[in-house]
Amino acid sequence: MKAEIGDATAAAERILRSDNIFTVTDSNVADFYPSLFAGVRHTVIPAGEKYKTLDTVGKIVSDMVSAGCDRQTTLVAVGGGVTGDTAGFAAACFMRGVKWINVPTTLLAMVDSGIGGKTGVDVGGYKNVAGAFHMPGRVVVCRDFLRTLPEREWLCGCGEMIKHALLDRDIYDETVRGIDGLISRGECAGRLIEMSVRYKESVVAADFKESGLRKRLNAGHTVGHAVERLDGFRLSHGEYVALGLLAEAEMFSDELDPAYLSALHMLCGKVCRHPFPSVSAEDVTETAKADKKNSGGEIVVMLPVGGGDVEEKRLTPEEFSRRLKRCLSAL
Ligand SMILES: NC(=O)c1ccc[n+]([C@@H]2O[C@H](COP(=O)([O-])OP(=O)(O)OC[C@H]3O[C@@H](n4cnc5c(N)ncnc54)[C@H](O)[C@@H]3O)[C@@H](O)[C@H]2O)c1
Ligand SMILES: [Zn+2]
Repeated sequence: MKAEIGDATAAAERILRSDNIFTVTDSNVADFYPSLFAGVRHTVIPAGEKYKTLDTVGKIVSDMVSAGCDRQTTLVAVGGGVTGDTAGFAAACFMRGVKWINVPTTLLAMVDSGIGGKTGVDVGGYKNVAGAFHMPGRVVVCRDFLRTLPEREWLCGCGEMIKHALLDRDIYDETVRGIDGLISRGECAGRLIEMSVRYKESVVAADFKESGLRKRLNAGHTVGHAVERLDGFRLSHGEYVALGLLAEAEMFSDELDPAYLSALHMLCGKVCRHPFPSVSAEDVTETAKADKKNSGGEIVVMLPVGGGDVEEKRLTPEEFSRRLKRCLSAL
């Protein structure tokens, strides 16, 4: 299944006008696009990660029951990653599973969360611990939704796009050329978004259940996730990914080509213009130890090394901390 990529939101409108569908969106998207949902069976979930919960799934399911939905109903999620993850999980649960269509409206949802069929919610403060693999039948990307996206959410998606660029030689070359246009939402953004979507699709197609190739998508996330947590989520997730990519590359700077390292600094610096948060190597290590990618007491870093290649580094917590400490002051 390949995502359908276009600009106009008319493609989404057509889906919402078809038979036996039920739509889930969030309160911000509903406010920005009221005419899209007029006369369509739908429910509006409150916007924000804190509502990515089993309670919200229960609300969607009960609203579907009240609306007379059945096993043939197709659920359509129109929103960012929170809406897609939550509504996709509701689709996996409603009457033991109904079809669903994902219409991502944030940059992150278009290039990342909307592709791959991972659905789920947070429980007890733990992210994505209840979930299901449930592939949407269609993913419909309408880039015009991005016109209303706030700057912070744009940069969030750009962080994941930079990561994809470091994992694929062709995207890398175009991203280095077009980074200023991407950040400023210029003309080249549309093409880079399409390349990024196709890249995520290719990785998911090769490794649906995340046993091998898909692990490379965790680049930047070992340090990124830990710093995100320690810094209290002040910046967007994608900005922490950019900082994580930077720190993880610096931890292995002795193994990387200096020209590649400096291009990586340039790309990450455009996405995240904030200084590296003041966190200690010890705290980052302690937080990274809890990462679910780890095994056997070692901390795993997926390191892009140039030319689209990635090396899996396994470090003892002591070695991880030592390498991070060495580079933190220079970031
Ligand atoms: N399923 C996966 O494989 C996967 C991968 C990566 C991330 N995720 C998940 O995705 C979520 C993050 O997704 P997100 O960044 O899209 O967050 P989000 O869904 O919270 O959207 C961000 C904000 O943008 C608003 N918004 C959405 N579309 C808009 C538009 N067109 N115009 C204006 N505002 C709009 C939302 O209301 C929200 O306030 C996280 O919960 C994360 O765990 C899932
Ligand atoms: Zn991410």
